[in-house]
Amino acid sequence: MGLRTIRLIGDDILRKKSKPVDNFDHRLLKLINDMFETMYRADGVGLAAVQVGILKRLFIVDTGEKPMHFINPEIIDKGGNQLDQEGCLSVPGKLGDVERPKWIKIKAFNSDGDEFEYYAEDFEARAILHENDHLNGILYVDLVVQGGK
Ligand code: NI
Repeated sequence: MGLRTIRLIGDDILRKKSKPVDNFDHRLLKLINDMFETMYRADGVGLAAVQVGILKRLFIVDTGEKPMHFINPEIIDKGGNQLDQEGCLSVPGKLGDVERPKWIKIKAFNSDGDEFEYYAEDFEARAILHENDHLNGILYVDLVVQGGK
């Protein structure tokens, strides 16, 4: 186990596109475990690998439903919309209103290399979409609705 350093806005790595994971090995498992430790310590509900300086398409989410990890994820369906406040461990002390789909269906791989699909809505969908954006170098601050709700 080990805590990793969370990269903050202004760090160029947060703007880079992450690359697909191709080795489902013990190092990947260690990274996922470290990410959970780092996220829980920081009181976060989601964390992408790029936020700890690893440009791999991987993120974790735990909004209180259950701890989940998503490797090489793809949003395969979405619908509706929701507007709510969002924050990010890489943008400490700030919140902003962001419009997101109300529900999503995502396809991804787990750490064993098995593909799965997952349906999420409301806050969990928001968290997954936020983390998925990190893999493409997008931060929620890019999406904030001016004026808010
Ligand atoms: Ni974030």
